Amino acid sequence: MTNVTDLDTEARRILKLNDRGGYTIPTAGLYPYQWNWDSAFAALGFAQFDVDRAWSELETLFSGQWENGMVPHIIFHQEDEGYFPGPDVWQGVGPVASSGISQPPVAATMVRKVYDRDPEQGRARVAALYDKMLAWHGWFMDWRLDRGAACITHPWEAGRDNAPDWDNAMAALDPGDVGPYTRRDITHVDSSMRPTKYDYDRYLFLVQRGARLNWDEAAMLKDTPFRVADPTMTFTLLRAHRDLAALGAVLGHDTSQIEAWIAELEDGAKTLWNPDTQCFDSRDTRTGTWSNAISNASFLCWYAGLDVPEMRDRLAEVLEAVQYGVPSLDARDLRFDGMRYWRGPVWGIMNMMIGTGLTEMGHLEGEALRQSTADLLSEHGFAEYFDPRTGEPAGGKSFTWTAAIWLGWASPNAEAA
Ligand code: GLC
Repeated sequence: MTNVTDLDTEARRILKLNDRGGYTIPTAGLYPYQWNWDSAFAALGFAQFDVDRAWSELETLFSGQWENGMVPHIIFHQEDEGYFPGPDVWQGVGPVASSGISQPPVAATMVRKVYDRDPEQGRARVAALYDKMLAWHGWFMDWRLDRGAACITHPWEAGRDNAPDWDNAMAALDPGDVGPYTRRDITHVDSSMRPTKYDYDRYLFLVQRGARLNWDEAAMLKDTPFRVADPTMTFTLLRAHRDLAALGAVLGHDTSQIEAWIAELEDGAKTLWNPDTQCFDSRDTRTGTWSNAISNASFLCWYAGLDVPEMRDRLAEVLEAVQYGVPSLDARDLRFDGMRYWRGPVWGIMNMMIGTGLTEMGHLEGEALRQSTADLLSEHGFAEYFDPRTGEPAGGKSFTWTAAIWLGWASPNAEAA
């Protein structure tokens, strides 16, 4: 299926297929709830053909916001036996059953995109979301900074679950006995494409700790067993601050607080520069060690508005080693595994953010990346992720965010993302 019109139609069909009324699930079976950044990207896709539906996606996401400002990474609108760990394990303390951690804050960026599609209709919708977005961004600034860079407190918080970025911090965890549990993910997808039991024991240990502490951030921060400063969080938050400030200006609000946050993060991003690899990297805040991973998150710098010449050299080297860029891990890295989730595969949403950032900075690699992503999806469909050497599709099928970024960015018919 290579015809562009057919692909546009198929992508819209997938968004509708995964629509559960006001929110979309990432894909049936494997991910049966509302996921935070997935929903924000879904809104970008909906905005191409149904702006009103795009707004409701974002509004439903914020319906799960906690009193402390946090917007959870999963919102469990209705029970589903097919997913583990579910609401009973997480024991979230928000208005709707949810997980207890967040995810990369791309919502404000997507809100701005949706607004731009129809500013007249969008003004009231943005106005209603503005304070909520501000509270969420403030929560990150209050609870997730280390030397000015944004951190994660669980591998799932970065949205890059099993990335090598967390290997050292994960190895330092002693999960003890987390009790018996049954994973559901490997009933939907082959286990060679998913994280391992070693990983899952540790994921669960961190969830159990948070639940035991009632998800009280101050209590969790004390003796935290896992805290990694990460380019995904830092760069998406920096970008989102800029977009929120722009929206604030449209609404006539004073944005000086956001401007101060931007300056703080711009400074903090420098603490993610690994001098050995000459690349942005994750830093374990407990030990100060680098992950030494050249990941697709490293290349979100342009999206964050930071142009660092060395990063274009790194990008050229990384792209050289694969057919479809940008891999979640440099293929020359010994830890690379082309089909295993965030340890090698290429992901459409990451390409979209990297490509958009490059293009905004006037770098031609952005358009090349868009074209390469368009080829990947036309040749291999709307899977969750792909082997970057062959394009072989992996993980879940008929995937919401892959369809969404086709519509909003990769398709020749997309309005520039
Ligand atoms: C996986 C991904 C995460 C995503 C979720 C739903 O956990 O790592 O980024 O949000 O699936 O698609």
